[in-house]
Parts: sequence; structure tokens; C-alpha cells
Amino acid sequence: MGRGQMSCEMKPKEREGRRRFDIERSRGAFWLCSLFFAFVAALGEAAKDASMLSKPPMGWNSWNSYGCHTSKLTETTIHQVAEVLVSTGLRDIGYRYVNLDDCWGAVHGARNKSAPLQGDPVRFPSGMKALGDYLHERGMLYGIYSDCGTRTCQGYAGSMGSEALDVKTFADWGVDYLKLDGCWASTKDMKALYTHWSELLRGVREERGGRGIVFSCSWPAYAIDPQKPEHFNFTYVSQICDLWRIYGDISGHWSSVMAIADWWAEHQDVLVPIAGPDSFNDPDMLEVGNGLTKEEGQTQMAIWSILAAPLILGHDPLTMTSDTLEVVSNPEVVAVDQDPAVDQGRRVQSYSHNGTRTYDVWVRRLAGGDVAVALVNVGSETLAVSQLRWSEIGLTPGDSYRARDLWRRIDIGHFNETIPSDSIPGIPPHGAFFIRLIPTEPPTSPQPPRPSPSTAAGRVMGPMKLMRLRQLHEQLHWEGGCGAETLELVPLAHLLPSRATTAILYTHSHLPSWAISSPPAGFHGEFPNLPDLPEPEDSESHASSSTSSHAASSAAIPAEVLQTIVDDNRHLTELVREQYDKRVEELTAQRDQAQAELRQIAHIIQRKIVYDGGLYDGTVANGVPEGTGVLRSLDGERKIYEGEWEAGKYHGTGIEYASDGKRKIYEGELREGKRHGRGKSTSGRVTNEGQWGDGGLATYEGQWGDGELRGPGLITNLNLFDNDGKWLGFYHGATLDGKAHGEGEMRDACGRFILFRGGWQAGKRHGHGKAYYILGGTTLSAVLWFDGEWRDNMIHSGTLFPDGTYAPGHSVTPIPWEAGQKVPKKVPGDRGMPKLPKWLRAQGLSMYFPAGAL
Ligand code: GLA
Repeated sequence: MGRGQMSCEMKPKEREGRRRFDIERSRGAFWLCSLFFAFVAALGEAAKDASMLSKPPMGWNSWNSYGCHTSKLTETTIHQVAEVLVSTGLRDIGYRYVNLDDCWGAVHGARNKSAPLQGDPVRFPSGMKALGDYLHERGMLYGIYSDCGTRTCQGYAGSMGSEALDVKTFADWGVDYLKLDGCWASTKDMKALYTHWSELLRGVREERGGRGIVFSCSWPAYAIDPQKPEHFNFTYVSQICDLWRIYGDISGHWSSVMAIADWWAEHQDVLVPIAGPDSFNDPDMLEVGNGLTKEEGQTQMAIWSILAAPLILGHDPLTMTSDTLEVVSNPEVVAVDQDPAVDQGRRVQSYSHNGTRTYDVWVRRLAGGDVAVALVNVGSETLAVSQLRWSEIGLTPGDSYRARDLWRRIDIGHFNETIPSDSIPGIPPHGAFFIRLIPTEPPTSPQPPRPSPSTAAGRVMGPMKLMRLRQLHEQLHWEGGCGAETLELVPLAHLLPSRATTAILYTHSHLPSWAISSPPAGFHGEFPNLPDLPEPEDSESHASSSTSSHAASSAAIPAEVLQTIVDDNRHLTELVREQYDKRVEELTAQRDQAQAELRQIAHIIQRKIVYDGGLYDGTVANGVPEGTGVLRSLDGERKIYEGEWEAGKYHGTGIEYASDGKRKIYEGELREGKRHGRGKSTSGRVTNEGQWGDGGLATYEGQWGDGELRGPGLITNLNLFDNDGKWLGFYHGATLDGKAHGEGEMRDACGRFILFRGGWQAGKRHGHGKAYYILGGTTLSAVLWFDGEWRDNMIHSGTLFPDGTYAPGHSVTPIPWEAGQKVPKKVPGDRGMPKLPKWLRAQGLSMYFPAGAL
């Protein structure tokens, strides 16, 4: 029986060559068979034969740069994208998948479940199959997006209830990759839904006789508890999906990239063991060239490569800069990501200085004993690293490596214990020093480099022990359990679950060279070892021989010994698991507590600093004001601001002071250093589009948006000027977007007499209003001269009172004013008053003003 034909377990995503193992045949055989199956499945050979992905997929996806912009997500644009990927050489580097994300469909909303999905006919006039053909003709692969719920996340028709039809449609279109999202579906149903899809997709694979449709699942991103991802059954996901999203959506910001990287590091003990050939954790797409600086882009590439993550470009290739092309096409960085060992790396260190995080160290073991190391500067200053010691990254001091700087693409020297500071260039803010270490002589110790000291608590077993394991396996085979005729072992450490207590085998050219026991991460106790077996007579010679191991295979082991071994190991396994679970709980509790404390005390401290031209007295985080505090003049005399801060800016509620430090010029809410929300300001200067001038001590009370008067509010004592700069009066009343709007009054200079009362719109009298003259004389007084509708500061229709209501004893003869009637150019205010009689006379109308009124 060939290696590829052995199987101990039936997986929903059944891979070719695996057949069910009859576990009833031997209880003892089961344990070792499971162990052996884990080896063989993990060897990759059996899995790889049937899987389409032996390395993380690479390509481009429309979502990050085109989103749901229908003008961008078109057949023409996708053709252009493909052309650019070809002409820039990105396709040949490996970026072959061109993946349409959400919003390609014809139907927005509910669909007819028995009608096949269609692309938007306006945007994809040649049809979706033609798009696939176009890509295939150019050596690209075709990716598409759907959703296991009733709608996609942007509300387009989803696939729920039409799964078989949609899989057939995608297969007919020649689709090579499916991202199946999880909006509009209940997380409770997702296991069944994703399992069903995996079965349907397996059908496509079988029909096509090989290459099927890569299955990218979003299920875990919806279903896990981000605080406790270990509660999620990733093993199952890895059996039905090729890659899977775990975390929320990435965006083109440094903080978003780091949030994902940090979460990944916090949960790496859960994530590392599930990754491997044809099984990839997906931390989401690349944002290089899509909002990140060049250095930030290099860092994302470095971390994603260490994580063996899918490299799916997220920028717009049609506007790609040379920097972006340079970063994403660096072949030595891509080679780390695509390393054949598919051994997901880890963050092994995160350093701080005076409570401020400075840099992180990420490590990934590569095939052939190479090691990739990234030092990531998380701070905002250029970083000088004093040295990089082998002990920090789990290498054995004394082992010699050639170090290659992957961004500069130069060798930086040979080192055998430490890379000194003068070989490490200054790392720019948010940048990464990314190197590959290549062994230059055989390691002095038989232990292969381990990524983190915390995971290296195992015991190294020599070739003899391996021989015994091998005998054990062959004995089982001989007894009729599961088995294979030849063990061709490759480094497997990354493929075994972190909780496994089984051995991990290493070999060179078919001959075992060592084995190490694999403790659960974080476990530091005594680790169980396989009990000794009767020594085969010629085992010594096998251990030292590099040409033959057959004699050892033939040694028989009595069935009772075998049973004892199996029982003992099972018992020990359980014990270790218990201890491990307990330890994980303790460590998690300790970490949570430490983090909570850190957040409260270590991070935020009370201090006085010189900040932004003043003396700041308050809480400070990372060198800038945070929380609450007071900013004063440098001599400490005058207050400039008192209130809440965030990231060095006024934020929350606060008070701004005038330059005398006593008068409050603003009191209310702020955001990002600007007045925002409800607030009250008394300001000497408010100017808006020429309508408003220096307002003396105008007071505004109302809504602000990003530093500007926005939304409803009230203004008092604000000088009004017309477009020609003529003073109109003071305005008191409602405002909108910084202009008189709603009900308001215009008063005279002394604030005593109303010149206008009524409606306003966009800074002009508009709507119903009453206008008055101020009449001089012995007693200053005002008379009504117009009552009616206004349009844009002009009287429009209503009633003129040319002889005034003021004069008792005189009859009032109102003149009806028709809408559209020609009006004087300048609307009379108090100063324009004389114009009205003149104009009325010109119209042949008489008017009367009481004696002494003028
Ligand atoms: C979800 C996914 C994103 C993207 C959008 C499209 O949010 O996580 O990657 O596909 O849907 O609507």
C-alpha cells in the first residue's frame, strides 16, 4: 500500500488517497495509528497530491481599493488590472488569482432562488464566464465572492438556498477560487452551511479531475470569540476549507495592520498548529500601496510572510506606484511567504522601554534550516537596535548563519551568536528589518532551531529512539493495523497540534536522524517520553549507519509490551493535557490582570510637560496628553485649555480660553482638536462668506462640526453686513451651518430696537418677517414698514406701511405688495429709509410720516 493510500479518518474535505481505517481492529493500534496518520497526513505528500494549494495563495482582490464602487468594479477595469499584473511581472512572481469581491452581481436584495446568479449586465456586458476566459487566456486564475447567507455583506443576492445551483454556475464560469462570506446567516448554521459548500466544491474537483475551486471561508471570523479563539474547532475548519479568515476586516491604516498582527501574536499557540500545506490562516488582504507608507507596507509584507499568510494584493494596480511594486514584488520576501515547509512563524519578543513599546521580533523556520527574522519598529522614531542574539530567536549559540537583508537584498555577514548593532541599520518608524539566516555549517546541536524559547521545552531523542518508534509502527503494520511500507519523514513540527504529546520525527534522505518530543506550548514540566523497547540487535549500527534501516524494521515486539506502551502513553497524554489546560488558564488570567493594570497605571501617568507651545499638566501617554489636563502659557500664568485630551489633541469636553487666560471663548465638546458637537463660544471674530463680519463679542451656542458652526444654534450680538459691506444690524437667533437660519431678530446698535423679526435662510431674510424703521426725534422709536414674505433678503409680497403704524391718530393706509413687484435695489434698513418715500413717490404713491418723525 502506497503512502498516499493510507487513512485513519474520514474528513469532510476528503483528500484523495485516504481511506477509512477500521479502528475496531486494534485498540493499541488506534493510538499509534492516529499518531502515524498525523505524521503521514502532515507529511503533505498525501494531502498535497489532492489539494490545489500547497502554498499560501497569491493574487489581487477588488475589495480594498474598489469596494462597492460600481464605476470601478467593471469588466473593463478587471481586464486592465489583469494586464497590469502581467505587464509588471506580478503574475509571474505568483500573484495569479484575480478575485472579484462583493458587488459584482446583477441583483441587489432578494433573488429568485432557482435562477442562476448573474453579473451586473451593464458592468460585465460580456458575462462572467467571458471574464474567466479572459483571465485564463492570460495565465491568471479567476476568483469570485459569494455569501452563505441570504445576502452579501453589501446587500447583493446571497447563496443561501441556492448552493448547488451557485456552485454549478461558478464551475461553469471556470471559477478557481471562492471567498464565501458569512453576512446574513446565523453563526449557528455556519458549520452545516460551510460543510455543505465543501462537499459541493469537492464534487467540482472530482468532475474536473484535479484542480477544483479553492475554498476561502469567512466562518471563523463570524463565529469565534476573539478573546478565546481556542474554543473554536479550527481542526474541523482546516478539514473543509483551504484558507479561512479569523479576524475582522483590515483597512489601509497602520493601526489596523498592527491590531491584526497583535491579535495573531496573542493567539499564536492556537493558530500556528492549524496552519500547514493546504491549510492557511488568513489575516486578510495586503494594504501595501493602499494607505500605508512604504515602510509600513514593508512591515506588513514581512509579518504576513512570517505568518505564511495568503498574499492578496489590496491596492489599485492601475495607479500603482513604483514603491508599491518594489515592495510586493521583492522575490526574496515572497520566497519566505511561499516557503515549502509552510511552517507558520510567531512573534517571539515584544520589547518596551520606559513603558513604551519599541519593537517586536517575529521568527519563522524555513525549509532547509533557514530562518526568517523580522524586527518591527512599532514606534514613531527611527530605532537603533543594539543587537540580535540567537537566544532571543530560539537559535543555538555557536551555530553559524549567513544573514541576508531581504529589503536591501544584500548579505550583511556571517554570525554565530549575535548580530551586532553596526550590522543592523536604523529601522524607520513602523518599518521592519527583515532578514533570512542561512546555516553555513551543520548545527552543533541536534536540535533544530525553534521559534520561541517558550515552545522549546521538549526533550531531544536520538536516532535510537526514532528506531524504536519506527519498529513500533512497523509492528502495527505487521499485525494488520494501519501502516505504510516506507516512512519518508520531513520536518513536521509545525503540523502537529500544540497540545500533541506525540513525537515529531525528522529525517534526511529516508533515514531518521532525530526525533524530538513536542510539549504543549507553555508547558514546562516533565514531558512524557516513550518507554524503552527491547533493543534490536543491530540497532546501534542502524543509528550510526546512513544507508540501511531494514533490520530494525523486522524486530518483533510482543503484543503485551505494545499494549502497555499504548496504555501508558494514553494515560500520560491525559495527565499532560490536564496540566497544560490548567497552566494555560493561569497564564491567561495573569496576562489579563497584567494588561488591565498596565492600562490603568503604567501607560498613563500624571506629569508636567512642555507641549504645543505651553506647559501641560495632566495625564500623559506615549509622550502626549491623554485623559484630562490643563494647558497653560509657558510661564504657567494663563490657561489655554482645560479638559479632555486624546492622542495629544483636545477631545471630549473642554474649555478654551482667550489670550488673557481668564475669559472663556469656548465651552463644550471637541473632537480631534476641533469644536464638535454642542458648545458655546464667545468670540471677537466670526466671519462667514462675507456675510458676517467682526462681531465684537458675538456669542454662539449650538452645534459644531470639525471646528465649524454646523447644525442648529443660537447667535447673539453678531454684526450683520450685506454683500457690499453695509452694516445691517446685530443678529440674534437661530443659525444653521454658521448662518442665520430659522427664526431670528436683527436689532439696532444699542440692542434696543428690533429692525427685523422673522424668518431667515442661509444668512438672508427669507420667509415671513416684519421690518421696522428706527425713527429719530425726541424719543427714538421704530415703525413697522413691511409685513409679509421675503425672498433672499428682498421683500416679496405682503403689506407696506408707508405712513407708519407709529403715529397715533393718523390713519394707516397699507399698500398691498405683490409677489414679483419691482422692488428698490437696496432694501431699506434704518439707514436706507429715505429711499423708500422717494421710491414710493416715483411710483405715484403718497405716504405720510408723522411730524417730527424724520
Ligand atoms: C466582509 C468581508 C470583507 C469584504 C466585504 C464585502 O466585510 O470580511 O473582506 O469581502 O465583506 O462586503
